[in-house]
Amino acid sequence: MRKLITALLLAVAPSLVFAAGGGIQLDHANIDVSNKEAIQRGAKTFVNYCLSCHSAAYMRYNRLGADAGMTDQQLKDNLIFTRNKKGEQTKVGELMKNAMTEDYAKEAFGTKVPDLTVIARSRGTDWLYTYLRTFYVDAGRPSGHNNKAFPDVGMPNVLWEMQGVQQAEIRVDDKGSRHVESLSIIKPGTHSVAEFDQVVNDLVTYLAYMGEPMQLERQSIGFWTLGFLLIFFVVAYMLKKEYWKDVH
Ligand code: HEC
Repeated sequence: MRKLITALLLAVAPSLVFAAGGGIQLDHANIDVSNKEAIQRGAKTFVNYCLSCHSAAYMRYNRLGADAGMTDQQLKDNLIFTRNKKGEQTKVGELMKNAMTEDYAKEAFGTKVPDLTVIARSRGTDWLYTYLRTFYVDAGRPSGHNNKAFPDVGMPNVLWEMQGVQQAEIRVDDKGSRHVESLSIIKPGTHSVAEFDQVVNDLVTYLAYMGEPMQLERQSIGFWTLGFLLIFFVVAYMLKKEYWKDVH
């Protein structure tokens, strides 16, 4: 009995650790990686607003095209804006890399710019959805703003034109730590709150897809595998009855 309880505790422990991460309330992202339009829209935001700094160096454009239902021409027209040293457009079979070097990033942002291919797996979609929507003005930071999910972040607020400018109400606790109590938009952007939430939700859907492009295939393979096992069970059972009928 004690062993069973220990095993159960060990099984749930990792989720408890995750839940404690950062200690902030995360907003819930509504992710459906089988939604190809959402992946296409998210990929477009990604290449326009993120790829200049972040790479996705384990993802190829044509893999994305195949999974999201886009032709090579559509990829070239809508998603591939990077060029090689000779000035030619990046090819559809190439990886989603950019030209930023580590040294440049260190100088510009004081830190490395992480690759985002599997970020949805390490951070989780709710964290990403919260992070990308909770930048707020903070005159004490070199970039002029801060973030609720990632305090003192080195990344600039790249989506501010859509979202607008956000201000935070900060509470400082007894230990001197700062907590963001609430956020409010003081200067509206080009998008309403609902529209902006949708843009970020699509972007996070794309990041979730990119973190594991196999997941759609895996689900359908699982379905067929179970179906096969079911049919095989019936056949095996009939065979067993046939073999044993003379013995009994
Ligand atoms: C101007 C450069 C720049 C652009 C553009 C940019 N980022 Fe960043 N991003 C950074 C830097 C620098 C960091 C590292 C911040 C730190 O460690 O303090 C970062 C960190 C992050 C992190 C946190 C990674 C971690 O450590 O867990 C995520 C997630 C992220 N960016 C997503 C995005 C997304 C999505 C976009 C596009 C909407 C984007 N970024 C656009 C520079 C950029």
